[in-house]
Amino acid sequence: MHVESLLERLEISTEMRRCQFVEGFDDFAARHDLTDWEGWFSPYDEETYSAVLELVTGDDVVLDLGAGDLRLALRLAQRVQRVYAVEVNPLVVGSALEVIGMRLPRNLHVVCANGLDYPIPPGVTVAVLLMRHCQHLGTYFDRLQAAGCQRLLTNARWKSGMEVIDLQAERVSFDRVRGWYACRCGAVGCAGSDAGATDPVIEVASCPACSGQKHLVT
Ligand SMILES: C[S@@+](CC[C@H](N)C(=O)[O-])C[C@H]1O[C@@H](n2cnc3c(N)ncnc32)[C@H](O)[C@@H]1O
Repeated sequence: MHVESLLERLEISTEMRRCQFVEGFDDFAARHDLTDWEGWFSPYDEETYSAVLELVTGDDVVLDLGAGDLRLALRLAQRVQRVYAVEVNPLVVGSALEVIGMRLPRNLHVVCANGLDYPIPPGVTVAVLLMRHCQHLGTYFDRLQAAGCQRLLTNARWKSGMEVIDLQAERVSFDRVRGWYACRCGAVGCAGSDAGATDPVIEVASCPACSGQKHLVT
């Protein structure tokens, strides 16, 4: 199958899928709890996709949350055992499926649904969440962790480059953190004033942002 030619065709028709300004979008976004830019379709760049592809192996079963026009999911399907691509916007994913047509790979399962509602299929080892403005990281984190998923590849928490979150790693209690922390809820920060720019980041299960506490460490 010539995925490269499909990707070219998807890229050429990107603009027709930027449907965040069509009539009814605001109601749709509200119904699906898509706040700020969450519901906007805007594909990422080659660098980001390559970073994701380097982080998966042939044994992985991948859940691509907010899969857009499937351009990453198609690449992933060439590399891993199976991909579940979940995209909430029917205009985005519908037109992409028209382009793909009869060339849909058998190991790519495409679902038009809200990823917050969609039951995580058994055996998912890696989830991909390329949604810089995602307000629901904590919800995804908890659901993926409970489903036994190992890793979450995302740009939602650091708001910049790609991050690999080990979902099953033990989390340190926030009270013990003296430096940089990253929380399952999506918040990141520094507890204390001594942390250097390159000090390691401690994973915590809760923090002042999600537990409603005041900063416990000064
Ligand atoms: C920034 S775009 C990225 C698209 C794709 N991941 C890429 O990199 O090309 C985010 C996509 O996530 C979708 N999305 C946002 N919230 C979602 C949700 N709760 N469930 C499923 N899809 C969602 C949007 O409709 C949009 O297409």
